[in-house]
Amino acid sequence: MTVQEKKVIAVPQVEPRTPIPIQNLRVAGPTPLPPEVLRTQSFPMLNHRGPEFAAIVKRVTLRLGYFFQTASPVLTYAASGTGGQECALVNLFSPGDHVVAITIGSFGNRFAKIATAYGLHVTRLEFPWGKAADPKVVEARLKENAPFRGVLITHNETSTGVTNDVQTLAALVRDINPEALIAVDAVSSLGCIPLEMDAWDLDVVFTGSQKGWMSPPGLMMIAASPRAWEANKTAKLPRFYFDWASSRKKLEVWQQPATPPVSIFYTLDMGMEMMLAEGREAIFERHRQAGNYIRQRAKAMGLHVLADPEYASNTVSALMKPEGVDSKALLKKLREQDHIVLAGGQDHLEGKIFRIGHLGFFSQADLDQVMDKLELRLHEAGFRG
Ligand SMILES: Cc1ncc(COP(=O)(O)O)c(C=O)c1O
Repeated sequence: MTVQEKKVIAVPQVEPRTPIPIQNLRVAGPTPLPPEVLRTQSFPMLNHRGPEFAAIVKRVTLRLGYFFQTASPVLTYAASGTGGQECALVNLFSPGDHVVAITIGSFGNRFAKIATAYGLHVTRLEFPWGKAADPKVVEARLKENAPFRGVLITHNETSTGVTNDVQTLAALVRDINPEALIAVDAVSSLGCIPLEMDAWDLDVVFTGSQKGWMSPPGLMMIAASPRAWEANKTAKLPRFYFDWASSRKKLEVWQQPATPPVSIFYTLDMGMEMMLAEGREAIFERHRQAGNYIRQRAKAMGLHVLADPEYASNTVSALMKPEGVDSKALLKKLREQDHIVLAGGQDHLEGKIFRIGHLGFFSQADLDQVMDKLELRLHEAGFRG
């Protein structure tokens, strides 16, 4: 037997900590936080099994139901949006189940990939990036691919800045298969763009705290319809952490099975208080105006918006990089000189587009600054529209 030499692990020599810069952070989440929300992050910890925290969980859970527009319980997990995709799948399906994944971009593809990883039989209905799912095509392809147990839909495709017409898509799925399980990724739309879970007869809807909720990343919120709860009883995919039944049981006493991210409950509690004060419809309108403004300014500068105008997102805009402009250098300059942070493109759109997030907490002045500086930096880069 060889005895391994014991290595001494030294304290690493690393860069010293530096203050976090103040930026006009316009990626599509994480988003900036209002001062009221930021302050809650310094609140002391509470016992997550104690009465004070239970009161927060209760308030947050019930208010989430209002934003989801559902009478079903909204479950919460320490997870990101990807966790929501996985959580939906493992609770609904059994190995070999046939699901149709309607995908219009990178996050739709991720949903399909997770389904494949779990051994589901996945049929992908792919649409070109920048387009929404065409209801007529979806209808025809669903009929061709029947029978199927579930349909996966992205509400707002963050990689392309396109919002699907989920209401129409869900209605046609129901016509073809009344018992289909419709799972909707509303990670970057819920709370910003109208979505009515019960009225639209959606089976699973999930979102993430770092998007429209004026909270940091770390909490995933998910709700399931009575049909989805019924399916959950016989769904055989392996699950433990994301098991809905154990979460629902603990929710009876306003707790979670595992330790929740206490501070994110503080931020979400305050964020939703502010959202309710603003009013849900007023928030939708603010996002609608933001989307229109960014697209109008972009067009006025001579930039091309990737999204089909009919389905352009009101939470994130993807703009085509003009010919001859180095988008990496442009984003670097905006970040270093103007303290404005935009996102690049994903997958095959890397280097071809840049994306502006306009969701959650923002003011008109924030958006003005982004578009003014973008115009200036593009001009400096030789772009004349
Ligand atoms: C629509 C959509 N789905 C899923 C995800 C994945 O979320 P996360 O990065 O929080 O895991 C994102 C992230 O931006 C998203 O926008």
